[in-house]
Amino acid sequence: MGFSTTFTVNGVTRTIELDDPRVTLLDLLRERLHLTGTKKGCDRGQCGACTIIVDGRRINSCLALAISHDGADVMTIEGVAQGDRLHPVQKAFLAHDGLQCGFCTPGQIMSAIGLIAEGQAGDDPERVREGMSGNLCRCGAYQGITEAVLEAQKFLGVADQRKVA
Ligand code: FES
Ligand code: FES
Repeated sequence: MGFSTTFTVNGVTRTIELDDPRVTLLDLLRERLHLTGTKKGCDRGQCGACTIIVDGRRINSCLALAISHDGADVMTIEGVAQGDRLHPVQKAFLAHDGLQCGFCTPGQIMSAIGLIAEGQAGDDPERVREGMSGNLCRCGAYQGITEAVLEAQKFLGVADQRKVA
C-alpha cells in the first residue's frame, strides 16, 4: 500500500510517495530528496549527526517517521545560508575552528541554531555544553563548538533585541 506525505523543506513544498510507512525523515531527506548534508551516524538517536529543525524545534531525524510529519516545516543544513551569505552560526563555527573532519558539523550547526532559538544558550559555557550534549564529535572539537555557539548567541541575541526595538 502506498502513502503520500507533504511538507515544506527549506521553504519548498514537497509531496513524496512512500511505499513503506517506516521511512524515517533522515532517509527521506537523504535518499529521496538527495539532501545529504544531514548525516547518518548511529541511526538510533545517540549521536546527533542527523539533527534538523522541524516546526522550529531541533530533532533527531533518524528517530522521526516521515509519515508522522505531514504538513511540517523542515529546515536542513542546506537551507541555513542565504545564497552565498553564511548564517551567523556557520560563520562562528569557521571563526572558532568548531570542526575538524566535518562529519558532525551539520548536526552541530542545526542543534546550535535550535538551542539559540530556544533561548537556552545563555552566556555560560557549561550551559552551552549541556544544551549541545546530544551532539557528539568524534574529533573532539568541543572547545571550538562551545566558543562558536557563545559567539553566535551573542550576535543573534543583539539582532533579536534590535528587531524588538
Ligand atoms: S544518526 Fe540520528 S542520532 Fe545518530
Ligand atoms: S568534526 Fe569530526 S566528528 Fe566532529
